[in-house]
Amino acid sequence: MKKTVAIVLAAGEGTRMKSRKAKVLHIVSGIPMINHVINTLSELELDRIYVVVGNQGKDIINALSNRNVDFIWQKKQLGTGHAISQVKNKLNKFDGNVMVLYGDVPLIESITLKNLLNSHSSSDFSATLLTFYPECVSGYGRILRNDEGNIIDIVEESDASKEQLKIKEANSGTYCFIWKKLSQAVDELNTKNVKGELYLTDVIKVLSSKGEKISAINIKNWKEVMGVNTREELVNANYEMNKKILKKWMNNGVTIMDPGSTYIHTKVIIENDTVIYPSTFLEGKSKIGKNCEIGPFTRLINSVIGDDSKVTYSVVHDSKIKKGTNIGPFSYIRPGTEISESAKIGSFVEVKKSFIGKGSKVPHLSYVGDAEIGDKVNIGAGTITVNYDGFRKYKTRIEDNVHVGSDSMLVAPITIGKGAITGAGSVLTKDVPPDSLALERGEQLIKEGWAKRKRELEKKRQLKKKDKNKEGS
Ligand code: UD1
Ligand code: CA
Repeated sequence: MKKTVAIVLAAGEGTRMKSRKAKVLHIVSGIPMINHVINTLSELELDRIYVVVGNQGKDIINALSNRNVDFIWQKKQLGTGHAISQVKNKLNKFDGNVMVLYGDVPLIESITLKNLLNSHSSSDFSATLLTFYPECVSGYGRILRNDEGNIIDIVEESDASKEQLKIKEANSGTYCFIWKKLSQAVDELNTKNVKGELYLTDVIKVLSSKGEKISAINIKNWKEVMGVNTREELVNANYEMNKKILKKWMNNGVTIMDPGSTYIHTKVIIENDTVIYPSTFLEGKSKIGKNCEIGPFTRLINSVIGDDSKVTYSVVHDSKIKKGTNIGPFSYIRPGTEISESAKIGSFVEVKKSFIGKGSKVPHLSYVGDAEIGDKVNIGAGTITVNYDGFRKYKTRIEDNVHVGSDSMLVAPITIGKGAITGAGSVLTKDVPPDSLALERGEQLIKEGWAKRKRELEKKRQLKKKDKNKEGS
């Protein structure tokens, strides 16, 4: 088989997005659009992938920094045809096929690209186009065919006649070319069009006028090749991509109770028999084990959840949650936290950059920050690790089997030794030795019968007041 390289065009500004960010860097299901295109291309066996960059080029190079692609600069965005001509230097001796794609078509699938390439490679056509019939054709280039049905040109919407605008077959911006033919044809482009650009689409006319044969395959699912030029199209692309991702996980044995309110990013991994409840967002590089229950109303960002765990009405950010844990309802797990097997973090608990040992419990209304908590520790309701004095942060260490009483302030730096018990309501500022009781509390005062006497006194005072009022009236 002939050598094949891909060229992805990503230099345009994307004016219609009205954004400071380059269009192809806008996010679809957690990653930039351009990364979707490169991911899909990576599933094909290509000899090289070139990405043409210009606007915000450095940011695009950054976004693709760990990908095996070459970048070509197009300093001035003089059109898609001009973008292709920038690659000529790199490919001056190349004798094979090129697949051209646009970086703003993120939903395209590798099977479609394989079919396009196979169709092109098995023929002697100089170009094979991927065409489609979009629900709304407006904005796309129209495919012109002659009476025999052969493709002779692509006309852009802004240059099309009334009759041509009626054509429903559109250009997806995905093509295969014999490189030598394309390379010659781009030299013959001109800017005689409404936008004054060098259109790649015009190479079709150049080729067909030389008697070159042009073929096309047509794609049924028009959404797969929809271009993203506006915010509205960006939302649609996100919606479609999310649907695809949810379907993939459902096919892999994950139950998603309400696909309409569940959002899963591209890089998330979920094992089977896990159930995702409504209004749940699984983001970044989150990884969820087997047999978990996630949601409802939960957001996981770059977090790892072990098998058999439950996370309900909670936010977990850049943290690791081990097997068989219970998080929520209403927990906020902040970055740098690790929660060990069978632990429990309960309602209205915030944990930041802390380690929680096996089987330990922080069941209610607590703040745990910069803490290292051992195994089988119980933290009473309303406990706060006082980690910040307004200048620096300090660590709290709580060793195995400690029982911290409710409403405790543990003023860091502090260590509570193994097996110790602390009394409720204590403000502890000194280390607590193992197996001891620590208590910091004013002594309790008892005045027997005081409440009863108080009530009787009050009763008498009320009666006197009533009598006085009567005299006065
Ligand atoms: C383009 C096609 C149109 C097709 C549609 C499919 C042309 C002239 N028109 O229109 O026929 O139906 O895509 O979605 O090709 N770019 C560069 N350098 C430039 C200009 C653009 O790299 O000088 C890149 C952009 O970053 C973008 C892609 O090329 O990724 C397409 O450009 P865009 O302006 O979006 O073209 P459309 O008007 O959508
Ligand atoms: Ca476009």
